[in-house]
Amino acid sequence: MIFKIMIKFNLKGDKSLSHRYLILSSLSRSNCRIKNLAMGQDVLSTKKILEKLGMEFETREETLITDNSEAYSINPDVPLNCGNSGTTMRVLAGVLAAKNINCILIGDTSLSRRPMGRIINPLEKLGAKIFSNNDKAPLKIFDSQIELKENFIELDKPSAQVKSSLLFFSLISGIHLKLNGRIDSRDHTELSFKNLGANITIHQNHIELLPSNNLNSFEVNIPGDISSAMFLIVFAILKENSHLYLEHVLINPTRSKSLEILKKMGADITLHHQTNELGEQVADIEVKYTENLKNLDLISKDDLPFIIDEIPILSLLFSKASGLVTIENPEELRLKESDRLESILQMIPSSKLEKSNLVIKGDNLLNVRSIQSEDHRILLTEKIYQLINENFKITKEEKEIISISFPEFFDFLEKLMKKEA
Ligand code: S3P
Repeated sequence: MIFKIMIKFNLKGDKSLSHRYLILSSLSRSNCRIKNLAMGQDVLSTKKILEKLGMEFETREETLITDNSEAYSINPDVPLNCGNSGTTMRVLAGVLAAKNINCILIGDTSLSRRPMGRIINPLEKLGAKIFSNNDKAPLKIFDSQIELKENFIELDKPSAQVKSSLLFFSLISGIHLKLNGRIDSRDHTELSFKNLGANITIHQNHIELLPSNNLNSFEVNIPGDISSAMFLIVFAILKENSHLYLEHVLINPTRSKSLEILKKMGADITLHHQTNELGEQVADIEVKYTENLKNLDLISKDDLPFIIDEIPILSLLFSKASGLVTIENPEELRLKESDRLESILQMIPSSKLEKSNLVIKGDNLLNVRSIQSEDHRILLTEKIYQLINENFKITKEEKEIISISFPEFFDFLEKLMKKEA
């Protein structure tokens, strides 16, 4: 299978931005308009929960019109299901605690295994009341009169979900919040707050949020998901004769570090039409098949928060490049939708753990062991390998797993098959 003509593809909106703009629309002065919302199950989980709480959504000409006049008017009598989505559970916990909604947040088996103490402890410092099952879901959020205990939080881990949960909680509760420590994670919440009129200042080492009025309403065309894009980008780099053009993709610097790494390794990637929309950087990404990729010696732990979701697919590419790469202490991968570090070690024969570092020896061969994973990003990594290797096959169950984050992957496959020579 070789595609000789350039493939142009439009990705659905970035998942992190989609969650945030849905939640922001529930807090804004009036109706908002959202174009190109992500269609994966994770974002649908956030949307469905907001509907259960009184939000109304209507789609007109591919634009979602939001109506928040009845938002947060309902104390739901059934548990709110976050499905597989950590962002839904962690960020909405902050929102619902601040809104004094009496409710229970539940998730699927994978989400029920993930650590929630990382949001519960700092939210409780700010005055929220949340019960959990030993710091795991289900989370019971109490309708409590918020009594501010502290307004200064030191983050000990770089997590955008934790940072966002605290920011939304404080914005809604009118708390003067000071965040410092590990604020070095994706910064969409800070940027969107600033752009919608919240009183937030973002410094190198700390963030300060002051009480402000309701957020401005907005119209947004969500740029394409850079994390999904990375699967197609790695495919195009590794598959002979490929030429791919992705239009209107999010390239926020806290998300596009992987592009920088690939360029440094010699990949043929060019950005076009760079713009700034609602504080977020956006561009078209052109990628061509590249031979002789060379691994960087070290991917430093300081870079990990900015490539965390892309490490599985990057690992596949690292195994094909030449040279040895050390990824410093990627332990956080164990706490994602599955233990992604273990999956990488099982999938990629030339990878190993040395002390706490992941070491991959590039050997110019593409060799991946098939593993049974219900984790969308691990499965997508395997599917990209199969596509390159021309032994692609997919089951109905696997399609459902991929649809957690990237349902339009199947539209890409269709385009690819049509262009096949
Ligand atoms: C996300 C933050 C990251 C990322 C996740 C999405 C977000 O998680 O892995 O897929 O939208 O805030 P952490 O906050 O746990 O690092």
